[in-house]
Amino acid sequence: MENFNYYTPTQIVFGKKSEEEVGKLVEKAGCKKVLIHYGSGSVIKTGLLDRVITSLDEKGIAYVLLGGVVPNPRLSLVYQGIELCKKEQVDFILAVGGGSVIDSSKAIGYGVANEGDVWDFYAKTRVPEACIPIGVILTIAAAGSEMSNSSVITNENGWLKRGCNSDYCRAKFAILNPELTMTLPEYQTMCGCVDIMMHTMERYFTTASPMELTDRIAEDLIRVVMKNAKIVLNEPDNYEARAEIMWAGSLSHNGLTGCGTEGGDWASHQLEHELGGMFDVAHGAGLAAIWASWARYVMDADVKRFAQFARNVMECPDTGNDKEDAICGIEAMERFYSSINMPISLSELGVEPKEEQYTELAEKCSFFGKRTIGVVKKLTKEDIYKIYKNAQ
Ligand code: NZQ
Ligand code: ZN
Repeated sequence: MENFNYYTPTQIVFGKKSEEEVGKLVEKAGCKKVLIHYGSGSVIKTGLLDRVITSLDEKGIAYVLLGGVVPNPRLSLVYQGIELCKKEQVDFILAVGGGSVIDSSKAIGYGVANEGDVWDFYAKTRVPEACIPIGVILTIAAAGSEMSNSSVITNENGWLKRGCNSDYCRAKFAILNPELTMTLPEYQTMCGCVDIMMHTMERYFTTASPMELTDRIAEDLIRVVMKNAKIVLNEPDNYEARAEIMWAGSLSHNGLTGCGTEGGDWASHQLEHELGGMFDVAHGAGLAAIWASWARYVMDADVKRFAQFARNVMECPDTGNDKEDAICGIEAMERFYSSINMPISLSELGVEPKEEQYTELAEKCSFFGKRTIGVVKKLTKEDIYKIYKNAQ
């Protein structure tokens, strides 16, 4: 077991009608003017935005609005948000939406609180030293950004999708009402389930000596999400199932399932981020499409771990042959992804890169040969290229 530092300062307000608490929570944060940041319109259609405004009005809290965040949130809107916040003297950002809206809010928060170009933090040439406070009303269980220290932004100049991790951006509060996720299209719900599972799987596949408690939490979290994804597929309005998935989404990315295992692998996420940047695919679907190719490529480096995953999570029988069991687990996960209508190849994802695009993906993902990705097996540009190719 490794030493660890588990930091989760976000207050969670969970349950039906919890969005009505938002005025009180912003008031408690002592802020005067809020930027309400949202996406392409679902929050208007569902009436959520009106309810948020009513709650702020009741507490006499001023606000300005900025919508238009798209999945794989863009840097250009972040710049607009920074300008608006400075002009309007905004001191709190309320993200009403999913991971894209929350990440855009975090980037705006950095831009307002730090001098210079905010992209530097994503290009990793500087680190942020502050962020203005952020609150969240979550409408999709997926990215876990409501409790994570990260944000991921796409720069249209070169279509680079890059992340920035820092504790400054952690949300002050996150309002989680599972009912709000019932209006999601099935595809987005299932993308979310994959992402939630993957945040724990990335932490699970590691070379650090595992901690039994963390392993068991991780294995059960994945199993609970799989079970409830199947329920929601048939009963989109099942509150209990939506609630299980939503809480799993936050716990899966707040560090809990990585305590004592030092970081995790994260190669599948790095591989997906390039797909998202170049082809604008949904994050969860991109992860489902690439995972098995990654798993088959690296499996031999830690076959015991893959065998444990197969037996404890995917219910593969223990044949006594780790390699056989590991393969059983990967195939079972592919079958699961297919059963919830998620892609298990790039072509099923709707992406058919040309030869030069495979090279470009590998170039970008390896930072043009300057970094390796992954921990189970450190992957070079050449390895990355093969994993993309094997996923076609
Ligand atoms: O924009 P609107 O109209 O709201 O539509 C959204 C969007 O099209 C829709 N939606 C959300 N809630 C809805 C709804 N539609 C109907 N009813 C609702 N209740 O769903 C679509 C997807 O939303 P998005 O915010 O993009 O989804 P998600 O939460 O999956 O976020 C994905 C982004 O988060 C990043 C991903 O890379 C991607 O850019 N990630 C962020 C992480 C973090 N900050 O910790 C970690 C993750 O690994 C991930 O990389
Ligand atoms: Zn993710």
